[in-house]
Amino acid sequence: MASATTSALFLVALLLFTTHGHGQGIVLPSLRVTGGLCCTSTGNCPGQGINGTVVRLNCTNILGVTTTVGQSTTNATGFFNISVPSTTGILFGLPTIPCAVSVQLPLNATVCPVLSTTTGVLASAVQSVGMVVNTTLGAVLNVVITGFIRLTV
Ligand SMILES: *[C@@H]1O[C@H](CO)[C@@H](O)[C@H](O)[C@H]1NC(C)=O
Ligand SMILES: *[C@@H]1O[C@H](CO)[C@@H](O)[C@H](O)[C@H]1NC(C)=O
Ligand SMILES: *[C@@H]1O[C@H](CO)[C@@H](O)[C@H](O)[C@H]1NC(C)=O
Ligand SMILES: *[C@@H]1O[C@H](CO)[C@@H](O)[C@H](O)[C@H]1NC(C)=O
Ligand SMILES: *[C@@H]1O[C@H](CO)[C@@H](O)[C@H](O)[C@H]1NC(C)=O
Ligand SMILES: *[C@@H]1O[C@H](CO)[C@@H](O)[C@H](O)[C@H]1NC(C)=O
Repeated sequence: MASATTSALFLVALLLFTTHGHGQGIVLPSLRVTGGLCCTSTGNCPGQGINGTVVRLNCTNILGVTTTVGQSTTNATGFFNISVPSTTGILFGLPTIPCAVSVQLPLNATVCPVLSTTTGVLASAVQSVGMVVNTTLGAVLNVVITGFIRLTV
């Protein structure tokens, strides 16, 4: 059952991908990733939002190559959103979205003391919270972070 669903979704994703740009009226969705970064030992909210920090989205494309496909700067509440157009060759239709959000450590001690003495990166997987159709942007897959984990590199 689960694997049949997975296969079906994969097929849909593949069809969407292969028909993209061939005038069939089917396009890959763009991706919108949102989340929050807070001044806690894990970087996860709730907590005091961290302002002005760069958050990157790395995705692995259909060729298995991982690149940074977008980035955003947190606002004063620690909120960020990263929009990625549908042209980057990523199979967004897959059940598991092959992307991760990351924040480079350490952070500025003025901005967040608790994360200013640790190295590595804060990284989070992402999960879909649904597809919307936007009149100007077309299909948009809304995605949220699952929670930061500190990775030492
Ligand atoms: C947040 O950071 C931006 C620059 O990244 C700065 O212009 C703004 O004043 C900061 N806001 C607060 C409330 O610190
Ligand atoms: C994200 O991708 C860039 C290459 O675009 C790479 O240099 C960086 O190490 C990656 N970051 C993570 C956390 O995988
Ligand atoms: C997304 O974030 C940018 C700053 O990175 C901000 O200018 C923009 O208003 C945000 N958009 C939404 C829909 O929250
Ligand atoms: C940060 O962005 C979020 C989502 O758009 C918004 O709710 C919040 O008010 C923003 N914070 C500031 C200080 O602009
Ligand atoms: C840390 O942030 C403060 C306030 O935004 C700034 O004045 C200072 O130059 C920053 N320090 C570094 C090392 O970036
Ligand atoms: C479509 O997206 C744009 C840009 O983010 C936004 O300004 C607009 O309100 C959205 N429209 C709908 C119907 O969601």
